[in-house]
Amino acid sequence: MKKAIIFGITGQDGSYLAELLLKKKYIVHGVIRRSSSFNTSRLNHLYQDPHIKNRKLILHYGDVTDSISVSSLIKKTLPHEIYNLAAQSHVAVSFEVPEYTANADAIGALRILEAIRFHGLEKKTKFYQAGTSEMYGKVMQVPQTEKTPFYPRSPYGVAKVYAHWITVNYREAYNIFACNGILFNHESPRRGGTFVTKKIVNGLCKIKLNLQKTLYLGNLEAKRDWGHAKDYVVAMWKMLQQKKPKDYVIATGKQITVKKFVNMVLNELSIDFLWTGKGMNTSCYIKNSKSKIVAIDKNYYRPLEVDTLLGNSSKAKKELKWKISYNLKSMIKEMVNEELNSLKNDKKYR
Ligand code: NAP
Ligand code: GDD
Repeated sequence: MKKAIIFGITGQDGSYLAELLLKKKYIVHGVIRRSSSFNTSRLNHLYQDPHIKNRKLILHYGDVTDSISVSSLIKKTLPHEIYNLAAQSHVAVSFEVPEYTANADAIGALRILEAIRFHGLEKKTKFYQAGTSEMYGKVMQVPQTEKTPFYPRSPYGVAKVYAHWITVNYREAYNIFACNGILFNHESPRRGGTFVTKKIVNGLCKIKLNLQKTLYLGNLEAKRDWGHAKDYVVAMWKMLQQKKPKDYVIATGKQITVKKFVNMVLNELSIDFLWTGKGMNTSCYIKNSKSKIVAIDKNYYRPLEVDTLLGNSSKAKKELKWKISYNLKSMIKEMVNEELNSLKNDKKYR
């Protein structure tokens, strides 16, 4: 029976990956951080009581900023596969806490790789590093491939570039089976509430249900290549099942602006709308009314922006036989339906 350990199991991707690995009959160890409130809501449906014999999901406290906890967890679990999804993953927040972001997102990867080496697991344990299209930043080529040079534009992007190259370095120096997934934005109903897609879906669903008047956003012109997290975790697993460890771009190959994403959510909610103004004065109204439903708040602009991201995942399609099952429309439909249901359930108890 295969054993895997997921750092970052409580996050969006961690929860989908845990589901996938459990379905494939893995024993899944997950690392969670101590928090004053429960941070395991995305795992509730998978949780197994510690008193159950032969349980398949085992949670441990740990933190990628704590070398000893990382090292002892790896020694204790002796996994066949390690997935490093742990990160301070919010780009805007990385400008506010750059040092912590570097510690968790850059040195965190090094701590795991060093533990593999220190415990002599180079031949036994495979390693996946959660890389990102943010590493391309101010893009040097369109679309971006595995060969496109990096030009990160945030402390988050810079930290992930370190994690990328230290992963390559340990692969080459110590023959560790280590892969970098370079994943473009991926979303789902489980997406954290401060990322733009979830924020838009949540805000517009609340407006639809008369629970909120206006949604405040930042730069509406940024273009992103958005896929579904459920499809993307399959690629992570596939990378570790190959004969040779390599790096892969995972993307849909299509991009739209944040503004168009808003339009698609409004259409899904059957709200008729009209945009007015430009730049900071852009607003969106319910058609033939004075109800301003979207406005700009300059506080949501970043010190530097990544204007456009568009990935080419031909290599993953060819070598991993990876394919996507969601398109943007079906993903938005799922996000909107789940959001409306959850808001309506909440409303009952208000
Ligand atoms: P997420 O929802 O923010 O989850 C991040 C996970 O990391 C959470 O489980 C979080 O724990 C954990 N974590 C944060 N700091 C930690 C620390 N110091 N020690 C241990 N765990 C820590 O992110 P996601 O969207 O699932 O993304 C997963 C990974 O892929 C991240 O590394 C992200 O940077 C990367 N990535 C994401 C995307 C995307 O579009 N989603 C694209 C490319 C790459 P808490 O629950 O306690 O906060
Ligand atoms: N979060 C947020 N909130 N973003 C906004 C807002 C807002 O109110 N208004 C406009 N945006 C714009 C941002 O400026 C950015 O250009 C775009 O929407 C997407 O922002 P996010 O959803 O925060 O994602 P991101 O692209 O910065 O980063 C995500 O994708 C990366 C992969 O490219 C994160 O998941 C990263 O962890 C991931 O690596």
